[in-house]
Amino acid sequence: MASNSFGKLFTVTTFGESHGPAIGCVIDGCPPGLEIAPEEFRRDLDRRATGRTRHTSQRQESDDIEILSGVYQGRTTGTPIALVIRNTDARSKDYGSIAEQFRPGHADYTYWQKYGLRDPRGGGRSSARETTMRVAAGVIAKKWLAERYGVTVRGFMSQIGEIVPNAYDLSAVEENPFFWPAADQVGELETYMDALRKSGDSVGARVDVVADGLPPGWGEPIYGKLDGDLAAALMSINAVKGVEIGDGFAVVASKGSEHRDQLSRSGFASNHAGGILGGISTGQQLRCSTAFKPTSSLRLPVRSVDIHGNEVEVITTGRHDPCVGIRATPICEAMVALVLVDQALRHRAQCGDVGVVSPRIPAQLELDADA
Ligand SMILES: Cc1cc2nc3c(=O)[nH]c(=O)nc-3n(C[C@H](O)[C@H](O)[C@H](O)COP(=O)(O)O)c2cc1C
Repeated sequence: MASNSFGKLFTVTTFGESHGPAIGCVIDGCPPGLEIAPEEFRRDLDRRATGRTRHTSQRQESDDIEILSGVYQGRTTGTPIALVIRNTDARSKDYGSIAEQFRPGHADYTYWQKYGLRDPRGGGRSSARETTMRVAAGVIAKKWLAERYGVTVRGFMSQIGEIVPNAYDLSAVEENPFFWPAADQVGELETYMDALRKSGDSVGARVDVVADGLPPGWGEPIYGKLDGDLAAALMSINAVKGVEIGDGFAVVASKGSEHRDQLSRSGFASNHAGGILGGISTGQQLRCSTAFKPTSSLRLPVRSVDIHGNEVEVITTGRHDPCVGIRATPICEAMVALVLVDQALRHRAQCGDVGVVSPRIPAQLELDADA
């Protein structure tokens, strides 16, 4: 199966299926000398993992990472880094009844049409289990970005169903199971999700990622634009149906006089562009937003067909996420970090000799302290 690799200079190749013995990735092109230990993967893998709260799938995976190569005495060597996680809680019998049926809204029908066969156990390669390895690779990307450039990449949930945050306090995000930026709404979300789970239905969600500290200059016009790479990376996550950069689709209703971000020596006056102009970072905060569809595997019956062409009623039992967006925040962060590290290396390769060009203006207006 082709297209399992991502990135030009920092290349990540993932492998493995949901219910196979293991999943893994190979990262080629990581700069040497970065300190990394297996424990450093724990935090982000736990943030993505199932079974940590009642609001996600109850599959219990320990997600213990093994570093097979590319790290010597705790530091990256510049050679391929191979990471592996053993699958320990795969219950293939959960999928026995739907092995020959196409779940509406899942990848069963299209994989069957394309390859002429498929691994139905837990969705096989189309399962979001694969995203575990993106998160693992993202840990390395985030660390390098932070150490080398002081860049931080942070995500949060910005909508579940019709509910939107009433505040954007990023310090609240890690304190609740929804990655929600408004602490006082967590009770409302718990009640909403409990009712949803009881009903057997699912709901969509939106996840935002912001990256701070980027220098101007990352991104390659024409076909390697930073926004283009971000859109492709985020769109490659399971269940994603939309990606916005900056104001996104709201630009349709806006006026040019409002949308263009004014520059002065004191800085950019606004950031409708989301930190990217001409496919290149401006040095402002990078802002992107990703729309996740509702989980398609439900215990509510639905019409479909099977591999023999018979009409069937599909009921999906097994362990599923009632809102896939809940676990998607670390995945979106990882994909943004992977794009950024790749673009940083590409910029360094072609334009590293250019150095800092004047004037470099502040990302935001610097307000006069006396004003
Ligand atoms: C974190 C995460 C968890 C997911 N969990 C489930 C799940 O439990 N059940 C399910 O049917 N789909 C789940 N999905 C979505 C499917 O993987 C996805 O819908 C499927 O591969 C078809 O691809 P598409 O929706 O991108 O077209 C999840 C997606 C993500 C990002």
